[in-house]
Amino acid sequence: MNIDNEALCDELHRGIAAREGETLQRVVYRVLRELILAGKLPAQSRLPGSRELASRLALSRNTLNAALEQLATEGYLLRNRRGNQVALLPAPVDMHAENVPEIVLPASLGALPPATRRESPAMIFTPGMPAVNYFPLPLWRRLLDRTMKEEGCLLLGYGDSAGEWPLRAAIARHLTLSRGIHCAAEQVIITEGALEGLQLCTQLLSERGQLAWVEEPGYFGARSAFVSAGLHIEGIPVDDQGMRLPAEPTVPPALIFTSPSHQFPLGSLMSASRRLALLKFAIEHKCWIIEDDYDSEFRYGSEPIPAMLGMLPQSPVVYLGTFSKTLFPSLRLGFVVMPPALARAAQPAIQALLRGGHRAEQRALARFIEDGHYARHLAAMRRLYRNRQQQLGDALRQTLTLPYSLSGEKGGMHLTVAIDAIDDVRIADEARRFQMAPAALSRFYLSPSAGKTGLVLGYGNTSSSQYIPALARLNGLITRFQRARE
Ligand SMILES: Cc1ncc(COP(=O)(O)O)c(C=O)c1O
Repeated sequence: MNIDNEALCDELHRGIAAREGETLQRVVYRVLRELILAGKLPAQSRLPGSRELASRLALSRNTLNAALEQLATEGYLLRNRRGNQVALLPAPVDMHAENVPEIVLPASLGALPPATRRESPAMIFTPGMPAVNYFPLPLWRRLLDRTMKEEGCLLLGYGDSAGEWPLRAAIARHLTLSRGIHCAAEQVIITEGALEGLQLCTQLLSERGQLAWVEEPGYFGARSAFVSAGLHIEGIPVDDQGMRLPAEPTVPPALIFTSPSHQFPLGSLMSASRRLALLKFAIEHKCWIIEDDYDSEFRYGSEPIPAMLGMLPQSPVVYLGTFSKTLFPSLRLGFVVMPPALARAAQPAIQALLRGGHRAEQRALARFIEDGHYARHLAAMRRLYRNRQQQLGDALRQTLTLPYSLSGEKGGMHLTVAIDAIDDVRIADEARRFQMAPAALSRFYLSPSAGKTGLVLGYGNTSSSQYIPALARLNGLITRFQRARE
């Protein structure tokens, strides 16, 4: 229904009286715009003269004119010597319930893995959460401060898409020494955590509709990266020697995602013969292996296991690394190491796909590595986690009353406790009420009902004094929800 000048002034008066923190100019602009969009001020109708309108609203003409000018700039009003006229706009849509757009997300997103909640490092047994309270925060702040002082506002622009050169060089040197990967800085691409590295590899190395193999059970991030890129996924079973290559795969995949040095979540180490078989398969079928090396700096009882990337020259392997486990997750820095030919070929695409950023953090991290702090922190964390892992194993033996099997003792920051026929999802949910965040093992399977049940217990962030009381509570939940399923 169109409104006359009286009603228009009433609407503006009401808007001005009810304004909260808005300037007068903004209220006038907003009320007029709403009336135009609702069709109450129809196309080509004229507003009262600005002198008259300003005086009726007790506004200065400057304020009113500024509001009208803004509406004219945005195309709602036509202003000329004869006054202000509402512009000709498409007829307003009648926003009845049937016209309100329904929110329909793409059906393919239904295949995304369940959401993970890891909001606080204080939640006991959170898988993948490092001991952030041991991170040398004062030193880190000094390095960040020094970097910003020395480099100043130059660091505030976009950086190189592939990451800051000093960090790429520092990572290349570190990998050569600690992971048996001989690579040049040109091969190292800095990403926002391993997850962005995985998304990048997916974009570079596969096409929508192709197949990707993931480990079964396996890391949620691989599933989400592949599903959101429109790939089909197939779960490849994992045993105590890692991913078990299918005897005769019908369709070879474009991508094979694996965590050979410490399988997530079962913790197995892929044997040399499996690694070589997988490499041979990938070479023969022209697929790419994405090697996730998320926590293998933490190896107990043996040297860190060399990566697959370094095993055969020119093998089709891209390597994913992250500082989320070795330093802290909110740093959101990870990296991809590509074979030299791929790094060269992908350079233009990387420039188009990534934006760099976190430049001060990247440069401070380069110094942290080059000055030896990273190696020292890793050594200290390795000692801490080794002790925690042993103490957690002992505490489990003392507290769990149902039969269980343990895996993942050789490294990392979590133990996987498989227990038959328990409602592990319910147990994990209930545990949150007691500030515990173990993960349900069955959720890491593509088909949870066919997988093992149990709990993945992160000990990186949980000190040993908490183990016995926390496990006693968990044991209570485990026995309770076992009965509930029988
Ligand atoms: C198996 C596995 N790979 C990689 C990552 C690293 O992810 P990001 O670097 O994106 O934090 C995680 C983190 O939870 C993980 O569990």
